[in-house]
Amino acid sequence: MEIKTFGVIGAGQMGNGIAQVAAMSGLDVIMNDIKTEFVEKGIGNITKNLTRSVDRGKMTEPEKFAVLGRIKTSVELADMASADFVVEAATENESIKFQIFKDLDRICKKGAILATNTSSIPIGRIANQTGRPDKVIGMHFMNPVPVMKLIEVIKGLATSDETFDTTWELSVKFGKTPAEANDFPGFIANRILLPMINEAVYCLYHGVGKAEDIDTVMKLGMNHPMGPLALADLIGLDTCLAIMETLYDGFCDSKYRPCPLLKKYVEVGWLGRKTGRGFYEY
Ligand code: CAA
Repeated sequence: MEIKTFGVIGAGQMGNGIAQVAAMSGLDVIMNDIKTEFVEKGIGNITKNLTRSVDRGKMTEPEKFAVLGRIKTSVELADMASADFVVEAATENESIKFQIFKDLDRICKKGAILATNTSSIPIGRIANQTGRPDKVIGMHFMNPVPVMKLIEVIKGLATSDETFDTTWELSVKFGKTPAEANDFPGFIANRILLPMINEAVYCLYHGVGKAEDIDTVMKLGMNHPMGPLALADLIGLDTCLAIMETLYDGFCDSKYRPCPLLKKYVEVGWLGRKTGRGFYEY
């Protein structure tokens, strides 16, 4: 199936990164969010990233403008009527995502594929909100999207092979390496990553070490590019908590219980980089 027009729902941290890689691969992109100020902020971030690439000699100025010229912004979901493939990258909240998929199912062309960038909500539950579960799939990008090479492609029980193959090929077109996962809580990436981050928060909570020391151990002792607490701040502590809760509820296993300190930080709005304070101050 040929994809020409690519829709992105959500212009935030993940959404604008996805719009950028799609436009860089030559697709026409529609980037949608609920408010003009959100899409403008998203375009601002893409412009900043592309300008940095020009400054570093990785892209020419005309190429930068060509990429920006391929991205249309939108604050009406109805604009997705022309998209062949849509990725939803809205807030990690089940009822918000369910409503978006119900609306997309009504608005989008019959053959359009509806993908979700969810980090933890079961693909089957999302697909069940639509009349086209065979065309619903998980396309899980990593943060920061323009830099990270992986896309986790998640098959729901009803996802068709054609939908899977198209999503896989699109991931390769984006210059990424796809990996296949099945629809279990946290899929592969977050099933492994989040318990590690949660354990790092427990180390802080139990006073085993200070944040800086916990991160230094993992960076220099295990060669991780950043420590787990700094990474939690990058991902967003609300997202980390939502994923831990999905693992805990999904497996009914106490080994996934979220650390009380993580809950406390989220309660007071210390969500990491995006609010200027998490385990570190920004
Ligand atoms: N957007 C775009 N580009 C960025 C960027 C951003 N937010 N942050 C860094 N970059 C680019 C820089 O411009 C730089 O580009 P050049 O090579 O062209 O100069 C390159 O990335 C390297 O950046 P830096 O030198 O500033 O810093 P670094 O070498 O320490 O790399 C990092 C930064 C890529 C973030 C690295 O620390 C890293 O890989 N960290 C781990 C990230 C990770 O684990 N992500 C997955 C999170 S889990 C997830 O996303 C899934 C989920 O559902 C929770």
